[in-house]
This record gives sequence, structure tokens and C-alpha cells, in this order.
Amino acid sequence: MYLYVKAIHVFAVVTLIGGMLAMALVLRSAIASPEATDVRRFGEAVLRWDGLVTTPALAIVWMAGFTMAFGAGWDSSLWLLVKMIPAVVLSGLHSLEALVLKRLLREGRRVHPLFGAAAFAILAVFAAIAWLAVVKPF
Ligand code: HEM
Repeated sequence: MYLYVKAIHVFAVVTLIGGMLAMALVLRSAIASPEATDVRRFGEAVLRWDGLVTTPALAIVWMAGFTMAFGAGWDSSLWLLVKMIPAVVLSGLHSLEALVLKRLLREGRRVHPLFGAAAFAILAVFAAIAWLAVVKPF
């Protein structure tokens, strides 16, 4: 049973990271040309995808993660405790991306240039999580 929950966790993680990267790339394009029709069109599609797929995937990542943590006794492990920090950062970044994209599309608000680095930030945080979860260094 544990391995099935782990498979669901990994599947949801891949889906989440894919959706977050897509959103990050739309925001990156919107910094350069916020009025471009193709940016808006792709932005709308990615926002719909976020509500339908990426956000539910994030919820599944957390639910499956907690199921494994308490089901298999990982809850007292230091690697998992430390992993909660980048996991919360990633979840917060997801909400922030969706908020900024929504504001761009609905209110025409400009995207802050810092979001140009969102894709790199996602990859860096994800790399830290993968290292902690797979290597379990402590
Ligand atoms: C939100 C971002 C998260 C990401 C990107 C993430 C990613 C991963 C990855 C890549 C693995 C490795 C799977 C493998 O060994 O093949 C993993 C395993 C695991 N994760 Fe997460 N995870 C996240 C959140 C959580 C949360 C919130 C919890 C628990 C509260 C959790 C608990 C676990 C546990 C217990 C394992 C299994 C370790 C094992 O059996 O070797 N994860 N996670």
C-alpha cells in the first residue's frame, strides 16, 4: 500500500512542477510584453490548467506526503522535518504565481521583474527537496 501512495505522491509532484514551470514561463514572457495577445491567450490556458490540474496536484502531494509520513513512521525523521521548509516555499510560490497571473489577466497589473527568475527558483527548491527525500542525508 505504501508504494502506491508513494507513486501517487511522485506523480502529483511531477504534475505540480510542470504546471508551476508553465506558469513561471508565462510570467517571464509577460514581463517583456504584457499586452501581447499570445501571452494573454497562453496565460488564460495555463490559469485554467492551474485550477483544474496543478492546484489539485499540490493538494494530493501534501495528502499523500502526510499519509506516508505518519503511516511509515517518517514523522520523526530530520530529513522530512527539513523538507517541510522547501515544501512550504514551493506551495507559497505556487499561490503567488497564480495571484500575479490572475492580476495580470483580469486587472492588467504589471508582473514584477523578479518573477523572471521564478522558473530557476522552482528548479532550485525542487532540487533541494529531491535531495532531501531521496538521499535522506540526516
Ligand atoms: C510540496 C512539495 C513536495 C515535493 C516536491 C516532494 C517530492 C518528493 C520526492 C521527489 C520524493 C522521492 C520519492 C522517491 O524516493 O522516489 C518524495 C518522497 C517522500 N515525501 Fe515528498 N514532496 C513534497 C511534499 C511532501 C510533504 C508535505 C510530505 C509530508 C508531510 C512529504 C513526505 C514524503 C515522504 C514520507 C516520502 C517518502 C520517502 C521514502 O519512502 O523514501 N512530501 N517527495
